[in-house]
Amino acid sequence: MITFTGVTKRYPDGTVAVHDLDLEIAAGRITVLVGPSGCGKTTTLRMVNRMIDPTSGTITVDGRDIREVDPPRLRRGIGYVIQQAGLFPHRTIIDNIATVPYLLHQDKKQARTRALELMERVGLDTALAKRYPAQLSGGQQQRVGVARALAADPPVMLMDEPFSAVDPIVRGQLQDEFLRLQSELEKTIVFVTHDIDEAVKLGHRIAVFQVGGVLAQYATPDELLANPANDFVRDFLGGDRGIRRLRFVQELDAEAAAERRAAVPEPAEPPPGGEAAAAGER
Ligand SMILES: Nc1ncnc2c1ncn2[C@@H]1O[C@H](COP(=O)(O)OP(=O)(O)OP(=O)(O)O)[C@@H](O)[C@H]1O
Ligand SMILES: [Mg+2]
Repeated sequence: MITFTGVTKRYPDGTVAVHDLDLEIAAGRITVLVGPSGCGKTTTLRMVNRMIDPTSGTITVDGRDIREVDPPRLRRGIGYVIQQAGLFPHRTIIDNIATVPYLLHQDKKQARTRALELMERVGLDTALAKRYPAQLSGGQQQRVGVARALAADPPVMLMDEPFSAVDPIVRGQLQDEFLRLQSELEKTIVFVTHDIDEAVKLGHRIAVFQVGGVLAQYATPDELLANPANDFVRDFLGGDRGIRRLRFVQELDAEAAAERRAAVPEPAEPPPGGEAAAAGER
């Protein structure tokens, strides 16, 4: 579990990126941070692996204050995936994936075997192992980014808009594969996105931030769609919240959703024969 207690980040120029944040992130689940540009999502994420230090407050990972863990050691247990995958352009795919094992001086042959296994796991043809990043599509590069983060088998993964650089179809595929993979791996994942649909699809719980780094609501997707905490959250969820909620429920349980729809009264449209006839039938 990851906990934030009273965490504030104020940058040297005075910008408050995160304001007095309290948040508990469950182990083995996907927690999504969502909100408009500049609301402090990346700052929140990067405080977990100490790429950014809070101005005040405490962050723990599995009960341990992260200030007590030296950053390189801390990062070994925390995978980090960013937008555009952040691959090394002059290294082959297999070497990109095995970067961390190489750094840890693990056996090279073993690291490569593992990298090939990971390629399969994330849905990449191992025939691509010897290519360079520029020779891959955007979606394939994103998969390499995920495989690379998994290579050290970290219990925690931080993912900052990892699927946002690809078209909606590829993005949907990546999301589906990611969910399938996570159902086997059960990592503790903190996933940042702007996109509320992605948040609802992937998140076990969703933290909605508003500009100024204020946590507006922290809830399960269903709770969020059913009961937005305030006008900001309602606006952020958008006018099609009802449709989104229905879609979410359908995905959760198609049968229950069917029953739910059956329970909703038909729109009051007078049947042939007029209203009196309709009333008489009831
Ligand atoms: N190094 C920095 N110095 C000063 N201000 C910063 C710095 N990094 C980020 N900020 C500011 O902190 C706020 C939060 O930034 P952050 O990158 O965490 O937002 P975000 O939610 O990830 O945004 P986006 O969706 O655009 O990626 C913004 O106002 C940003 O301009
Ligand atoms: Mg960001």
